[in-house]
Amino acid sequence: MIKVLVVDDEEPIRRLLKKELARKGFDVEAAPDGKSALNLQKENSYDVILLDIVMPGIDGISLMKKIKADPASPVIIVLTGRATIETAVVAMKNGAFDYLTKPYKLDELAIIINRAYEYGKISIKSQLLQQELVRKELPLEFICKSRQLQDIFTLIEKIAPTDSPVFIQGESGTGKELIANTIWHYSKRSTLPLIALNCATLSENLIESEMFGHEKGAFTSAYQTKHGIVEVADKGTLFLDEISELPLGLQAKLLRFLDSGEFRRVGGNKILKVDVRMIAATNRDLKDLIKGGKFREDLYYRLNVINITIPPLRERKEDIAVLSRHFLKKYSQKLSKPITDLNPEVLELLNEYQWPGNVRELENVIERAVILCDSEKIGTEDLSIPVVFSLKEKSLHPSLEEMEKNYILRVLRENNGNQSKASQVLGIDRKTLYLKLKKYGIDESARR
Ligand SMILES: Nc1ncnc2c1ncn2[C@@H]1O[C@H](COP(=O)(O)OP(=O)(O)OP(=O)(O)O)[C@@H](O)[C@H]1O
Ligand SMILES: [Mg+2]
Repeated sequence: MIKVLVVDDEEPIRRLLKKELARKGFDVEAAPDGKSALNLQKENSYDVILLDIVMPGIDGISLMKKIKADPASPVIIVLTGRATIETAVVAMKNGAFDYLTKPYKLDELAIIINRAYEYGKISIKSQLLQQELVRKELPLEFICKSRQLQDIFTLIEKIAPTDSPVFIQGESGTGKELIANTIWHYSKRSTLPLIALNCATLSENLIESEMFGHEKGAFTSAYQTKHGIVEVADKGTLFLDEISELPLGLQAKLLRFLDSGEFRRVGGNKILKVDVRMIAATNRDLKDLIKGGKFREDLYYRLNVINITIPPLRERKEDIAVLSRHFLKKYSQKLSKPITDLNPEVLELLNEYQWPGNVRELENVIERAVILCDSEKIGTEDLSIPVVFSLKEKSLHPSLEEMEKNYILRVLRENNGNQSKASQVLGIDRKTLYLKLKKYGIDESARR
């Protein structure tokens, strides 16, 4: 509900405006003079102020200057009975949003209040755009061949349109940010930008004021009132990355915020309220942190309404080939190189590797390979990764499992991927072969 403060010295006008604007769906309060208006303004967060110009005590223009000194001030509409061009000009110069004369038309006034409210939101947003906290829309390419990722994608389609908080877990480089983006993209809130805050990049002091904002004078360097990103994300989506790094004191405040949408700016008394959908992510094991007293258990449960745990790449090898080809296409286009594919040995190597850096590492490896490659297909010589090294080392002393895997692969290839023939040669039944293929992540393309 849009909160409006009417400031007018005439009691009948205040009464009429309160009644009529309430009927139009606004939440209206009124003050008879500048002094009480300033007091009310300190304790409440109004969206719009309707201001009379000629009043005893502090006049409208001086009051407006006082209010406007706070950059987080409400939008001001001047409403006066003694309209002259000069006062209109003075009012606009001092930052009034619009100017109306009494007697006003109620419908027109309602429209202007709504516009003023929208304007207020936009000006907060533009402050933020300058800070580059707003996420640019990425072209979404979410590759999911493996069962695990397909299940995640199905879940995303289901939960994206709801307002439930989502908690994303996964090792570094598994695609947490991409998933947060995907959820936002398919949500009803995608008309507003996804606002992101990385909890690991700011000091403990800064992060609270970044998140909830601060009042002017809250600390020595707080020269101006600052909006927190929760205000900027109002009606939209907030992505808190690396949530494990959030200081304990702030965890309590975040919990309260998640429960009620309410918060206070640093150094402020007013309770503010917004409507934000929360997506949080971490690459750490929060259960461990909870045991160690570093993370609040109640916050964990509040965030974890919907959990998305992305398995590491080594546990979903079916994705490796598709992702590699996806990145190959991306970088050969970007670098204008006519590279069409990867050699089968390359794919085999990529399948072998454990990918501690997950998809991000794979992407880097393919990008470098595209840069180095001089032919139509990426070859093993283009892979400047520990894969080659570790494989050479390994091939001197392969483990029993690797011997088994390689032998199965060889027999399968000798039999053109025919599983019954291969199982006969191997002396095992088809079901055992199937289980082994699954265990070693040997997919269709590798078998021929
Ligand atoms: N399933 C996927 N399909 C396409 N690209 C992916 C996929 N998963 C990850 N990527 C790409 O891999 C890179 C790393 O992903 P992202 O930044 O989302 O990982 P992260 O889990 O947030 O990593 P970190 O823990 O280091 O913050 C990005 O370029 C992303 O686009
Ligand atoms: Mg990330």
